[in-house]
Amino acid sequence: MMRYKTGKVALSGLNMDIPQGSFVYLVGESGAGKSTLLRMLYGGLRPTSGQLEVQGTSIRGATDAQVRELRQRIGIIFQGNRLLNARTVFENVAMPLRVQGWDAERLLPRVRKVLSFVGLEDRLWSYPETLSGGEQQRVAIARAMLANPPMILADEPTGNLDDDTARHVLDLLMALNKLGTTVLMATHDLHLLTSHPGLVMQLHQGALMTGQSS
Ligand SMILES: Nc1ncnc2c1ncn2[C@@H]1O[C@H](COP(=O)(O)OP(=O)(O)OP(=O)(O)O)[C@@H](O)[C@H]1O
Ligand SMILES: [Mg+2]
Repeated sequence: MMRYKTGKVALSGLNMDIPQGSFVYLVGESGAGKSTLLRMLYGGLRPTSGQLEVQGTSIRGATDAQVRELRQRIGIIFQGNRLLNARTVFENVAMPLRVQGWDAERLLPRVRKVLSFVGLEDRLWSYPETLSGGEQQRVAIARAMLANPPMILADEPTGNLDDDTARHVLDLLMALNKLGTTVLMATHDLHLLTSHPGLVMQLHQGALMTGQSS
């Protein structure tokens, strides 16, 4: 269960098991609890009660150090991408390994590799503001995959994109999933499911409506 300080119970009664390698769509109305669940999965919020284990780490009892360590093994694409406009694409993408102490020399080939995966190798020295919305979202994907995490969490990564661009972004996430990465993606774009099938976890007012239980 997750109760915010305001008293709002954002999630309750969830019981599920997401196998490594799954592609999961998190759907449900605005306020259903999608972002809350994603935040809990990277240790940004601790459950008020109950158990939550992510990549072998028990979130509720985890120390801050354990949460930091867990986050190095999770790629995160936030709602609204959160790129730093004062930093180049290179610096934005490099961030997850910068914080792990990698220097520029070691980072450059790795950043180039993930940028070429998303088709933006030529924008290494651009600033995010000079990119389109879809390109910015691809930069956010490159950043999320940089440290080669076993799991990627994406909060409405296709939120402000037109259909074709949204499909391209989804192609990239699906390609990562094919390589073994677990992907959990909150979305309102249900029509994407027809071209890109996956498990559907439906939340309604903080409760799980469909999906796997264990
Ligand atoms: N920091 C917070 N403090 C108190 N209540 C919050 C907080 N963040 C979210 N909530 C509430 O928790 C519930 C779930 O919010 P959440 O952001 O998880 O919804 P969502 O499914 O991601 O919605 P959307 O589709 O609009 O992004 C909502 O009722 C929201 O108002
Ligand atoms: Mg949300």
